[in-house]
Amino acid sequence: MKENKPELYTSLSPAMLHLYDLNQAIVVVIDVLRATSTIATALHNGASCVIPVDSVERCISLGKLTGAITAGERDGRIAEGLQHGNSPFEYQRSFIENKTLVLTTTNGTRLLQMAVDNGAETIVTGSFPNLTAVTNHLIAQNKDVILACAAWKDRVNLEDALFAGAVIDGVMEHFNINCDASSMAHALFIQAKPDIYAFVKNKQASHYLRLSRYGLEKDIQYCLTPDIANILPVYTNGKLLVSTCATASGEHHLVDV
Ligand code: MLT
Repeated sequence: MKENKPELYTSLSPAMLHLYDLNQAIVVVIDVLRATSTIATALHNGASCVIPVDSVERCISLGKLTGAITAGERDGRIAEGLQHGNSPFEYQRSFIENKTLVLTTTNGTRLLQMAVDNGAETIVTGSFPNLTAVTNHLIAQNKDVILACAAWKDRVNLEDALFAGAVIDGVMEHFNINCDASSMAHALFIQAKPDIYAFVKNKQASHYLRLSRYGLEKDIQYCLTPDIANILPVYTNGKLLVSTCATASGEHHLVDV
C-alpha cells in the first residue's frame, strides 16, 4: 500500500527535465563537477550571494553594472572575458567574503535557468560538499522532490547520478520512490560509497578525464568530499543565498549580507 509520503524523482539529464512536474516540488540542481560544489564553497566562505546566469555576455554585463566578480567556464576552462574560473579553490574566504559572484557554467547554471523556465518555484543546489545540508532540508520540508542532474551537454554523467544516489540514501525512508532513475542512482552510490573518488577515477568518468587533463585533480577530489562546505544555497529572486535552514516546521530563513 502506498504510504502518505512525498514523492521523489531523479532526472538524469536536462534533456529529461520536461518529463517532471517541477512547480509543486523542491528542485535540487546538481552539478558536482564543479558548478554546484563551487557555489556551496563560495557561499560557505561568506560570499554575499551567487548570481547564476546562462551566458557569458550576461555575466560580463551584470559584472559591469554591479561591480560583482564575474566567473565561469566553457568546456571546463575559464571563459574569455571573465575574471575567474569555476574552481572551488578560487573562492577562499579571504577573497570572496562579502562579495557577489556572477557565475556562468557549461551545464550547471544552464540547468538552473531551465528549471526556472520550466516553472520551478523552489530551487536549491546540491553537491557532495553540502550533502547533509541538502538531505536535512529535504527531510524537514516534507514536499515532493526532483533531483535534477546537470550532466554534460545533456549526456548522463556518473558524478551527478552518484550524488543523486547519495541524497536518496540519506532521505529514502521519508519518501515514496517509484522511479527507476532513482533506483539506478542509489544502486550506483552504494557501490561507490566506500571511496567515491576512487570509483569515479576507476570508471574513468568523462568529466573526470576532461578535468584531470587540465591538471584539476585537486578540484575533483574536493568536489567529491562530503560536507566540507555544508550550507544550503536557495534560489530567490535571481540569486543563490545561504539558507540558515530547515527548521522542523519546514521554514527556512535566508541570509542576504
Ligand atoms: C558545468 O557547469 O558544466 C561545470 O561546472 C563544468 C566545470 O567547470 O567543470
